[in-house]
Amino acid sequence: MTAEIHTDLSDGILTITLARPDKKNALTNEMYGVLADTIEAAQLDPSIRIVLLQGDGDSFTAGNDVGEFAAIAAGKGPAKRHVHRFLHALANATKPVVAAVNGKAVGVGTTMLLHCDYIVLAEDAQLITPFVNLALVPEAASSYLLPLRIGHARAFEMFALGEPLDAKNAVAWGIANKVCANDQLRAEAQRMASRIAEKPAGSLNAMKKLMRDAQRLVAQMASESAQFEERLGSAEAREAFSAFAEKRKPDFTRLDRK
Ligand code: COA
Repeated sequence: MTAEIHTDLSDGILTITLARPDKKNALTNEMYGVLADTIEAAQLDPSIRIVLLQGDGDSFTAGNDVGEFAAIAAGKGPAKRHVHRFLHALANATKPVVAAVNGKAVGVGTTMLLHCDYIVLAEDAQLITPFVNLALVPEAASSYLLPLRIGHARAFEMFALGEPLDAKNAVAWGIANKVCANDQLRAEAQRMASRIAEKPAGSLNAMKKLMRDAQRLVAQMASESAQFEERLGSAEAREAFSAFAEKRKPDFTRLDRK
């Protein structure tokens, strides 16, 4: 268990907290590994009825660690990458997943929400999918799930422009269930998780399984992953990652389309 992921099991609710607030809970390979292990184990543990995801500090998560993207692009990534195991665990989970989202949910921070079942947003929540800004493509089956959820026009806009979607619109568009005051977020998410946890678990799990085609989602992830890997090695992506590290705006105008 890494110090950057905390877990707590109480009354059948496994709360998983992203705890790297100084880096806006940006997810490292190690953190993905722990998340994957935890969600996989939760499926098999009869004392766990529901999983709740939340983030410490002022952001849910800033998404994948951009430094790690840059290392992969430079051929210096980790020998074993855990992100896919994490995404597959989420796609295959039949126990309900609740999310409590405050501040920014960037990249996978937003796309993982498409695999959650009940989402509470704080008033300051912002959902951001800047894959194209980073010269990448959407992942976590979001290229399928987001248009399905909110329609092509809105999904295209979110992906292509990478601009924040605020909490009110995220609920209006059907991505999340409700908005609450920032200081009520955790209590409200726990309250909803408790209400769901009281329901018959077997029925809930069977219902969730019927509502999601996990095989379809995993197949979409494989298609996305092939494109994603290719994009990671592109000159455009290298420019985007260097710009992030140098805290400047990227300049894609001098690059060809590769
Ligand atoms: N990967 C690695 N480090 C990250 C990070 C990420 N995804 N997001 C934030 N950080 C780090 C910053 O580099 C900074 O580190 P430093 O204090 O050592 O300089 C620290 O977290 C705080 O971030 P900062 O940018 O100063 O906070 P902010 O409130 O001004 O902005 C964000 C917050 C999330 C909008 C901004 O950090 C951001 O755009 N991050 C990148 C998001 C992204 O593109 N993720 C990948 C999606 S596919």
